[in-house]
Amino acid sequence: MILYPHLDVNTAGHLSIDGADAVALAREFGTPAYILCEDVIRENCRTYLNAARRAFGPDALPLYASKALCFTAVYKLVAEEGLGVDCVSGGELYTALRAGFPAERIYFHGNNKTDADLQMALDMGVGTVVADNCDELEALEALAAKAGKTQRILLRITPGIDPHTHRAISTGHVDSKFGSAIVTGQAMEISRLALSKKHLVLAGFHCHVGSQIFDVEPFRDAAHIMLQFIADVKTETGFAATELNLGGGLGVPYTEYDRKIDYAAVIAEIGEIVRERSAALGIVAPRIILEPGRSLVAAAGVTLYTVGSVKQIPGFRNYVSVDGGMPDNPRYALYQSQYTALVANRAGEPRDFVATVAGRCCESGDLIGEGMALQKPSRGDILAVLTTGAYNYAMASNYNRLPRPPVVMVKKGEARLAVKRETFEDLVRNDCE
Ligand code: LLP
Repeated sequence: MILYPHLDVNTAGHLSIDGADAVALAREFGTPAYILCEDVIRENCRTYLNAARRAFGPDALPLYASKALCFTAVYKLVAEEGLGVDCVSGGELYTALRAGFPAERIYFHGNNKTDADLQMALDMGVGTVVADNCDELEALEALAAKAGKTQRILLRITPGIDPHTHRAISTGHVDSKFGSAIVTGQAMEISRLALSKKHLVLAGFHCHVGSQIFDVEPFRDAAHIMLQFIADVKTETGFAATELNLGGGLGVPYTEYDRKIDYAAVIAEIGEIVRERSAALGIVAPRIILEPGRSLVAAAGVTLYTVGSVKQIPGFRNYVSVDGGMPDNPRYALYQSQYTALVANRAGEPRDFVATVAGRCCESGDLIGEGMALQKPSRGDILAVLTTGAYNYAMASNYNRLPRPPVVMVKKGEARLAVKRETFEDLVRNDCE
């Protein structure tokens, strides 16, 4: 096993990904390519669903935060597993709908939904809109009235928690572009406004404290603060929230030094906290929704590259350049995210060569990682970067006019194309003469 049970070394000494030979996959589908293990995603969905049902009751509904990884086959898979989905744009809504995702199980997020987004949600029959701010509430009310519909909503609230994670991905603190803060009084204000709207049905509240979180504390704090808020809203307005969405954010191991989280145990703990606090506050425990992204899909992904140049700069460092880079994985450039990498065609050998893995873009910050321990590679080797299922394909760009890699789904050794490799023709498709 290498980092995760679905990754191993086969008899040829190659990396195997759920029974498929990574070198053979590279040969068949070309590089760079994203490989995704279907069963890993399915298993993670089941872990969340079963744990949520045990902890929160039979109507519990984990949502897949599809910003982590979005294409048709993923929505189909998540729908089959019985989860709901969190969408954040017209593009995600469109893809989900086209994949046949049940609209009533969609939660529509975003801090700046356009009128066109809101109209699309109404037309699609999206189950729940998570309204971010008063302007959006007014716009949604007007559009719903015009359409003669009522829309179920949650309100996004900022509980004021710093989840001790990377600042750029911590979204629950007060100084945030997301939601309305409790401490400023704006959360109560938007609740009153929502309750006054004829075409909006307020079901409850949402918060999201951050991403890649390993501790249960931020979730415990969020539950405490949000349940207190629900109790305060009840006292002030008489409204009893029936749903509390505590967002996503549980972390995954990217390296052997990262902790593994027992998701079911964390969910059980959240269930306990909610029951206990609700009883103490004298409110009916709301239905709890969680919306994991990374922890459902990250571990399922491996990116395969072909090694190009290997440079050893005496007195400085080693550079291994690959045929992808920040356009397919911008996470090191953005967050200095750590990854595990290895040479897939010599996966059984010791990783005793330390290198900076660089992309092929004309930009020195185009790195996949620094100080990475690899087997010493040479030109033509296949380099595998692990745990790339979340926020890689979803964040990919065409910088330097590089076509986006394909997504290949693997299941028990069998591979199928889920997203085709972009062609040069795709790159110029929208260019006008
Ligand atoms: N719900 C809401 C409202 C969110 O904003 C997010 C992530 C999630 C759920 C899912 O969080 P997760 O379980 O995936 O941590 N691009 C960054 C991550 C940004 C996360 C943004 N919001 C990265 O590559 O690390």
